[in-house]
Amino acid sequence: MRRATRWSVAWALMATSALAAAPNGPGDDCRTCHADAWANKKVVHPPVKNGLCLGCHVSTSQTAHTFELLAEGKLLCAQCHSTRDTLKVLHPPVNEGLCLDCHDPHASNEQARLRQPVFETCTRCHPSKRMQHEASATKHGALDPKQNPKVCVSCHDAHQSDHEKRLHDWPPEKVCLTCHDKPQQAPDKELMNLKAWLDQHDGGTMRHGPVREGRCQDCHEPHGTGEFRMLKGSYPSTLYAPFSNALEEYGLCFRCHDARLVMEKQLTEKPVSNADPAIDLSWAASDGGMRLLRGGVTGFRNADENLHFRHVNKFDKGRTCRLCHDVHASENAKHIRTTTPFGGWEFLLNYKKTTTGGSCWPGCHAERKYDRTQRQENPR
Ligand code: HEC
Ligand code: HEC
Ligand code: HEC
Ligand code: HEC
Ligand code: HEC
Ligand code: HEC
Ligand code: HEC
Ligand code: HEC
Ligand code: HEC
Ligand code: HEC
Repeated sequence: MRRATRWSVAWALMATSALAAAPNGPGDDCRTCHADAWANKKVVHPPVKNGLCLGCHVSTSQTAHTFELLAEGKLLCAQCHSTRDTLKVLHPPVNEGLCLDCHDPHASNEQARLRQPVFETCTRCHPSKRMQHEASATKHGALDPKQNPKVCVSCHDAHQSDHEKRLHDWPPEKVCLTCHDKPQQAPDKELMNLKAWLDQHDGGTMRHGPVREGRCQDCHEPHGTGEFRMLKGSYPSTLYAPFSNALEEYGLCFRCHDARLVMEKQLTEKPVSNADPAIDLSWAASDGGMRLLRGGVTGFRNADENLHFRHVNKFDKGRTCRLCHDVHASENAKHIRTTTPFGGWEFLLNYKKTTTGGSCWPGCHAERKYDRTQRQENPR
């Protein structure tokens, strides 16, 4: 019985809308004839649902069913919405009033009544971002609608913002840490909770320069790259890697640091003294570009022997930077890690800094010392 009633109601509705001729004039309740255009849509605009059609349509004749819009462009929407053109960084299509380019005025099945899903809405005009996402060997889950339905608009504001690239917040770290405040599942492993790590390493110089400034995008390309972890330069994914060319293998680090660090076996430059360990740690020093060369190319040297060369620059099994450094933050001087992976275990490195050198005593070998001014002899 109930089923039959429903069918007849639906049939009657279909029949009315299919058969009804346009009235001679604006007509009465507009919804009797037009409502099924959005009857099955998920997101219906309240004025449409409520029959406030004349909020946007004005009848142009008492005898014919003809209409024009009450206003052009964003002024039509401005009756009820702010026009989103007041902050520092505007979006041209919004500023130009092309609201209807992205939004359907009546109804749609997408969030915010978009005409297309967000990814399509944005990449229609920014096709390079679609290509980048599709072509990248390392894709970002944030751009995958299945993992993150808000895709582009979880980082960018669709309309306007006060921040560069119309990001929701600044520095970019604040945007990144809205998701990286918990472990995220990458194809190869579960990623660490980066926010928790940064919170633990907050003070002084514990964070690596660009991280301290919240500039994650200096190293990572949020729309994906061909490199490991969407990095902006090359960086091996392993603990050990054959070494042949600093810029090809460690292009990331040597965007900012001097590649002589791993290229010069014998150091002729005199080590610059950094007698005061407090100063040694502080980057507030005004030595500009020289600061990274303060040790005389590198401070990781035993007299004139470059220990970066010795560890990294090996044709078969060079150690990659991650064995010793934590690239985001660490509680030790020089961003040296507290523990290092070895044969499936984490060993304490026991790194100690002296004013002219340092030492480490990892679980896997005896204590080793280096000193820039006076050569240290170590057990083989
Ligand atoms: C009796 C049924 C009926 C009612 C009531 C009705 N319409 Fe229509 N309307 C139609 C039909 C049928 C067409 C298509 C006419 C055509 O294609 O020429 C139409 C077309 C339109 C169009 C497109 C015409 C154009 O100028 O581009 C608009 C806008 C419109 N209606 C708005 C309204 C509004 C607003 C109301 C309420 C004030 C309303 N209609 C009430 C049946 C109706
Ligand atoms: C927020 C403004 C707004 C409201 C409210 C609104 N419309 Fe529209 N309508 C538009 C615009 C703008 C167009 C032009 C077509 C487009 O851009 O999709 C349009 C087009 C139409 C058309 C032409 C066919 C089509 O879908 O393109 C019909 C019919 C129509 N509206 C009926 C209605 C009816 C009936 C209501 C009320 C139940 C209504 N509209 C409420 C803005 C509105
Ligand atoms: C007559 C008043 C009125 C007009 C004109 C109007 N809106 Fe709305 N709109 C509303 C109301 C009411 C809501 C629901 C409250 C809210 O979300 O702000 C709404 C909600 C929205 C939403 C949120 C939808 C969702 O569920 O997420 C969008 C997007 C939107 N309007 C776009 C537009 C655009 C684009 C225009 C111009 C073409 C426009 N509106 C014109 C009254 C209006
Ligand atoms: C480039 C595409 C685009 C244009 C142009 C655009 N919007 Fe949006 N709009 C979006 C997207 C995407 C969302 C969903 C935002 C989100 O979920 O964070 C949205 C959400 C909204 C919302 C609901 C959420 C909110 O911010 O209040 C309203 C209302 C809205 N837009 C109104 C407008 C108006 C008015 C205009 C024209 C002045 C406009 N939009 C132009 C893409 C656009
Ligand atoms: C109708 C075309 C159009 C659509 C749709 C569109 N954009 Fe844009 N967008 C532009 C234009 C034009 C510019 C300015 C030129 C440029 O930087 O490419 C721009 C600039 C940008 C910028 C650079 C801002 C800056 O200051 O450097 C970002 C980010 C952006 N859009 C994101 C988005 C997102 C996210 C969406 C989807 C919600 C989107 N766009 C949809 C046309 C569009
Ligand atoms: C995880 C956050 C995030 C997501 C998601 C995201 N972006 Fe971006 N986007 C950024 C950041 C950060 C920048 C600034 C990059 C830089 O300066 O190197 C940026 C820059 C841009 C620019 C400016 C040009 C450029 O490359 O510097 C455009 C255009 C843009 N994004 C569009 C998009 C579109 C379209 C989407 C969705 C397909 C999207 N973005 C998704 C974070 C994001
Ligand atoms: C909307 C949530 C979201 C935001 C915002 C976000 N991410 Fe992600 N990110 C993810 C998810 C989910 C993954 C895991 C899937 C994957 O591997 O891409 C991920 C993975 C990553 C990875 C590892 C990629 C891989 O597969 O090796 C890096 C690096 C990363 N994000 C950096 C960033 C940076 C930098 C920002 C800020 C510009 C950022 N993320 C903002 C969700 C987000
Ligand atoms: C100086 C360059 C640099 C900066 C700045 C940087 N990262 Fe990274 N990030 C890396 C490198 C290199 C890796 C790979 C580390 C490894 O596997 O040893 C990485 C790995 C990651 C991972 C994966 C971690 C895991 O569990 O393997 C995430 C997530 C991530 N970064 C997010 C961020 C976010 C968010 C920011 C900003 C707060 C940021 N990064 C700033 C270079 C950087
Ligand atoms: C975007 C530029 C940038 C990139 C890329 C970068 N660094 Fe740095 N790095 C800096 C800056 C700026 C400092 C100085 C501030 C500080 O102490 O962190 C620094 C300092 C360091 C220090 C400590 C220097 C000291 O004397 O205290 C180490 C170690 C280091 N970086 C390692 C790396 C490694 C390993 C990589 C590659 C995975 C890398 N960096 C990539 C900018 C960068
Ligand atoms: C075997 C451990 C080890 C490896 C592997 C390693 N480093 Fe270092 N690095 C150190 C130590 C120890 C210091 C601190 C030297 C000092 O000031 O006493 C250091 C210092 C630095 C500094 C600060 C400037 C300087 O040279 O004094 C930078 C930059 C740096 N390392 C970058 C890198 C990069 C890039 C890689 C990979 C290509 C790398 N390191 C690999 C142990 C290592």
